[in-house]
Amino acid sequence: MGYDHFMLTIGSVEIGSPFVQAALSGYSDLPMRTIAKRLGCRFTLNEVVLDKFIMYPGKKNKRDLAMTDDMHPVGGQLMGSDPDVFAEAADVMVRAGYDVMDINFGCPVKKVLGRCRGGYMLGHPDEALAIVRNVYGAVSDRVPVTVKMRRGMDDSPEAERRFFEIFDGAFEIGVSAITVHGRTVEQRYKGPSKWEFLSTLKKYAGDRVVLGSGDLFRAEDCIRMLEQTGVDGVTIARGCIGNPWIFRECEALLAGRPKPDPPTIAEQRAVIAEHCELAREFFGDDRATRIMRKHCIRYASRHPSPKKVRRAFAEDVKTPKDWQNVFDHFYDSSVDYPAIPDDDAQLVAAGAEG
Ligand SMILES: Cc1cc2nc3c(=O)[nH]c(=O)nc-3n(C[C@H](O)[C@H](O)[C@H](O)COP(=O)(O)O)c2cc1C
Repeated sequence: MGYDHFMLTIGSVEIGSPFVQAALSGYSDLPMRTIAKRLGCRFTLNEVVLDKFIMYPGKKNKRDLAMTDDMHPVGGQLMGSDPDVFAEAADVMVRAGYDVMDINFGCPVKKVLGRCRGGYMLGHPDEALAIVRNVYGAVSDRVPVTVKMRRGMDDSPEAERRFFEIFDGAFEIGVSAITVHGRTVEQRYKGPSKWEFLSTLKKYAGDRVVLGSGDLFRAEDCIRMLEQTGVDGVTIARGCIGNPWIFRECEALLAGRPKPDPPTIAEQRAVIAEHCELAREFFGDDRATRIMRKHCIRYASRHPSPKKVRRAFAEDVKTPKDWQNVFDHFYDSSVDYPAIPDDDAQLVAAGAEG
């Protein structure tokens, strides 16, 4: 596969790589995105933010608008139901420095659907396109606008018709790319992401930029999705939680190089410790401890004794000081650990929990 073929560009923003860190609610905050960037990811998305929350000053709002010089290019993602509020919130995010404005029409969480947000929009093309139109009007003079969708509300022909009404309508308004997760809203995370739908869609889309999502747990999956479906890029979601090394693995495989060796114990320790420290600075001790528990449990998947390490992170860490004990006990590079397994079974099992 030729590397040059996959120089993803989203409107005016050159990404230069097809591998994107997906928006991940509860995960893809500034610390996680910083780690991904340092380990070679070229484009990351912030977790979805409710439009109303972005409008009102508060701790959460401040954190979602936080930006660092080395974060660019970065996408912000919004969810909401009122086209005017949505557009105002998009303007706030762009003024904060986000380089791409992404619109969430995919979230399958019941409460979100009940409040006419996220995946609800896939059943209501007029409402969805009113949001796209307003957001485009508000920020497209400064940044590209993109949309994230699932492949429909459900498997009915009506749902598919609505999907295409939104897909075509959004591109007609002027969006620069659409990311499609190959599951339906009804499906949530049950069953596979339908990659055949992505292949058909990309053929239909022609030059319009389509990114694929769903079941990308290993670097090999990402390459396979690019090859099999022809999408212009892939957004890596559960596959990069606790596994930021996936980006360098993807780049190597795409360039025709061998997959790099799994991260050594010393490398793992350095990255996890840095992530923990960034989280501590960003969130403060209490919140960082809670948030990093989820990440550390996933980081444990790349350790030769994943179960023990997972348990230690889950049960023994009550304050940030306790991280050090886990590092000293399980990530001591003077100890001769068993060979670090190459991802496969272990990572797939970890991803499937999400
Ligand atoms: C914990 C979690 C949080 C997510 N948060 C978001 C989000 O904020 N915005 C979004 O567009 N998709 C979100 N997604 C969906 C993912 O970006 C992705 O489309 C989906 O997980 C399918 O990819 P995967 O099977 O490779 O994980 C989330 C998924 C998970 C598991």
